[in-house]
Amino acid sequence: MNVVCLPGDGIGPEVAAAAWDVLGTLAPDLVLEERPFGGAAIRESGEPLPPDTLAACRAADAVLLGAVGAPEYDRAEVRPEQGLIALRSELDVYANLRPARSQGVDLLIVRELVGGLYYGARGRREDGTVYDTCEYHPSQIERVARRAFELARTRRGRLTSVDKANVLATSRLWREVVERVAPGYPDVELEHMLVDTAGMQLVLRPEQFDVLLTENTFGDILSDVAAGVTGGLGLAASASLGDGGPGIFEPVHGSAPDIAGKGIANPAAMLRSVALMLRHGLGRPELGDALEQAVERGLAEAPPPDMGGRATTDDFTRAVIAALSSR
Ligand code: NAD
Ligand code: IPM
Ligand code: MN
Repeated sequence: MNVVCLPGDGIGPEVAAAAWDVLGTLAPDLVLEERPFGGAAIRESGEPLPPDTLAACRAADAVLLGAVGAPEYDRAEVRPEQGLIALRSELDVYANLRPARSQGVDLLIVRELVGGLYYGARGRREDGTVYDTCEYHPSQIERVARRAFELARTRRGRLTSVDKANVLATSRLWREVVERVAPGYPDVELEHMLVDTAGMQLVLRPEQFDVLLTENTFGDILSDVAAGVTGGLGLAASASLGDGGPGIFEPVHGSAPDIAGKGIANPAAMLRSVALMLRHGLGRPELGDALEQAVERGLAEAPPPDMGGRATTDDFTRAVIAALSSR
């Protein structure tokens, strides 16, 4: 099995190094290769997703990604984030799974990842007006909805589809397609919820949710909210899956420029993404379970600063490796 690692920017390389060390212990047979991506790639070649990097990702069994983005590109024409948006689309990883767990809470956000506002036409008119457009074809909604129903069926059998159907045409289509797909999954209980309500309910009563299904932009926002109510971005992992090709496994957090270079980033989100990769990308669920348990022990024994402790990224990584070795 071959994994392409894209460390990217800011704390991306710091948490990618932790993943690299842990995989050396857990799955020494994996072949890992590193490629330039994001701001790091712009500096080398002028593009955030160089053709060689894309080719390596296509040929891999899975892609493990740190984070992209840096303040120096805030006003630039070519931005690191464009590389991520292009890579998701090139690999057609339309279903982004973002689990969030803590005391009493065990929910999974299924975010549509390759459509909507991120990919619609954008531009500028002569009068200075700037626009982004949100578009969805029924087939784009149907495939991610099926994935969410299938996941709900392996969990507690409840699906909340989140939209803004009281205002948006794309949301009305979203609801229509989800309703059309639902009878194929009679064992799953479906409800619809407006996105503003969903934001509040996630904060007030997150334990009510099992699987949440939503479009790209709403899912981006709600997954940070879900991370916030279950321990923070230092813990939140994600898996971006298509049909058959390599998935992308990446933390929900970004490059965290405020703490980059200090050696204190919490690598738990990245290590949990590695666990998702072992389970969903490489067909090694037993290794994914072992890693998740080792991360739990690491959090108990060596909490990093965002968890109220003093462990550095390296301290935490060593604690996880020790937990794996004493298995
Ligand atoms: P961010 O997620 O990078 O950081 C938000 C806050 O959470 C910061 O205070 C940061 O220090 C903290 N944080 C994040 N991850 C942490 C970790 N592992 N350990 C400890 N603390 C952590 O979001 P932002 O500041 O809004 O964005 C910074 C840059 O990252 C931007 O350029 C943005 O576009 C990019 N970004 C990239 C991704 C990605 O690559 N998938 C995701 C989100 C944001
Ligand atoms: C995420 C990030 C990305 C997104 C950005 C960096 C393009 O915020 O993965 O959540 O909005 O999808
Ligand atoms: Mn985000």
